[in-house]
Amino acid sequence: MISNELREAINEQIKYELYSAYMYLAMSADCADRNLLGFAHWMNMQAREEVEHAMRFYNFLLERGGRVELHEIEKPPAEYGSPLEIMQKSLEHERFVTARINALYDQALQENDRAAQVMLQWFITEQVEEEASIDEIVQRMKMFGADGAALFMLDRDLGARGPEEDEE
Ligand SMILES: [Fe+2]
Ligand SMILES: [Fe+2]
Repeated sequence: MISNELREAINEQIKYELYSAYMYLAMSADCADRNLLGFAHWMNMQAREEVEHAMRFYNFLLERGGRVELHEIEKPPAEYGSPLEIMQKSLEHERFVTARINALYDQALQENDRAAQVMLQWFITEQVEEEASIDEIVQRMKMFGADGAALFMLDRDLGARGPEEDEE
């Protein structure tokens, strides 16, 4: 059985993952609205991944005999600024989520909950990838600045994003 404290923290994390999905979906709509269809597609894929993250935590709780309690999800902003600002806000958000995952891991260590540690290790790796891939986009955008042709090319590249292949 999972401890009450860890169960509560994982329920809280389900909320953050679903909020992430909600936020990326709002970003997707914002990008679609200004005709950045590649960005919109990328954000849409990101939203789907976040739902999968929430389900990983959800299934883990059920497997461990912990009660799932869904929390209220905040309304995300509707507008995110320039394309660069959108990506910067994504990165900022992922860093926040990484800190939450790290805190969960610390708690699992403290409680000697090895099953939770193994489950969370997947998320630690995932967060490294998420931050790196978004940071790469941010760096590319900073490099090309106001170059519209480069933004067009990036939009095309982001539009080619397929589903994640590393899911077990
Ligand atoms: Fe996530
Ligand atoms: Fe994420």
